[in-house]
Amino acid sequence: MTKAWTPDSWSGFEARHLPIYEDEAELKRATDTLASYPPLVFAGEARALKADLADVAQGHAFLLQGGDCAESFAEFHPNNIRDTFRVLLQMAVVMTFAGKRPVVKVGRMAGQFAKPRSAPTETQGAVTLPSYLGDNINGIEFDPATRRNDPERMVRAYSQAAATLNLLRAFAGGGYANLRQVHQWTLDFMGRSPWADRFSDIADRIGESLDFMEACGVSPETLPQLRGTSFYTSHEALLLPYEQALTRRDSLTGDWYDTSAHMVWIGDRTRFPGSAHIEYARGIGNPLGMKCGPSLAPDDLLRLLDVLNPAREAGRITLIARFGHDKVEDGLPALLRAVAREGHPVVWSCDPMHGNVVKSDSGYKTRPFDRILREARSFFEVHRAEGTHPGGIHIEMTGQDVTECVGGAVAITDEALGDRYHTHCDPRLNAAQSLELAFLIAEMLNSEASVGRRDAA
Ligand code: PEP
Ligand code: CO
Repeated sequence: MTKAWTPDSWSGFEARHLPIYEDEAELKRATDTLASYPPLVFAGEARALKADLADVAQGHAFLLQGGDCAESFAEFHPNNIRDTFRVLLQMAVVMTFAGKRPVVKVGRMAGQFAKPRSAPTETQGAVTLPSYLGDNINGIEFDPATRRNDPERMVRAYSQAAATLNLLRAFAGGGYANLRQVHQWTLDFMGRSPWADRFSDIADRIGESLDFMEACGVSPETLPQLRGTSFYTSHEALLLPYEQALTRRDSLTGDWYDTSAHMVWIGDRTRFPGSAHIEYARGIGNPLGMKCGPSLAPDDLLRLLDVLNPAREAGRITLIARFGHDKVEDGLPALLRAVAREGHPVVWSCDPMHGNVVKSDSGYKTRPFDRILREARSFFEVHRAEGTHPGGIHIEMTGQDVTECVGGAVAITDEALGDRYHTHCDPRLNAAQSLELAFLIAEMLNSEASVGRRDAA
């Protein structure tokens, strides 16, 4: 018999990667403040995303999830939000055009702050300090005062998330995402990428299609889907005191939702059976992601699915495979088969980032673009061999012209990594690399669609 769930029942379970706050009264002040603040999303929106993801699970749509590894207070700027949003829009257009399927857009934005770290401390010279855990917990600067876990940072993160979400909603519904603007989404510095020309061709063809439809009486003025788009937010539900404070009962259904984002996911390091993070997630009504890496055994995965989705609701669970370019072919099939055998209606998404981190000769943590691509390709191939749907892609990216991942058509070299290496945690694809990846995934979607058409014929 499963024990009753409450927003704080996780505190009776084993919690890894949670900060220790020295001053309980200070923590309580911050979480009380958050608990009195308005929800950031409405439960009905989380249900709408769940319905969209149910379409993805059936192979009728594709999921695009992307954004920073870690949002930061320092990079909080309207241009950064706009540029990430517009690269996601560009990617979605490319994939919709090729795959002939709607693309469900979910940002790793407006709340993606807290990070699980491989070591609890960091040493520089003779000094050892607690590791940086994300701007909603402590600061990145290597300084004892900054590295202290400060609960007030959660309140600042909430404000930043609220303002970010507000701008995203304005862009999505206020005209920026109107398909008539498709040419304007190109970023100036993308001109150097050969993929920018390909995007311009697609934009021309969309423009022609819109002209034709307008002649037939259908235009963005008459059809809301052309005028704006749905855009959802997500982050790893790692910092449970923050998530708990934003967990509210939905006034329409009486169910509990985490109102900090439409979708939240559980990371590879906190998804072990019996974890506090699993306990928290099982009680909220939001669509849930769960990272699946090489250490996850098929039986453990099935047990976790039974806990998180006992009713087998479609769209509830997105499994985000993050194996590494050389491990996906060996590791993924057993998980796909176990899930298919038990009839769990999941979305399978590919995170080609987290299993492909290497240290460059210049000392930077980087991810070679060719390995990212290889993992995505293998993910599609394994699904084709197993007869299951490759449902989505989950990436760390930014709309900025950073130099963090090596490779790509506008090749970032090892020596160039230092030029604009700005990430607060893992290396991100820059705008040109993100668009390039979208075209390569579009090709795979296209060939998957033609196989589907042949099978149907
Ligand atoms: C992440 O998505 O930033 C992350 C930490 O991933 P994972 O849990 O897969 O390691
Ligand atoms: Co990361």
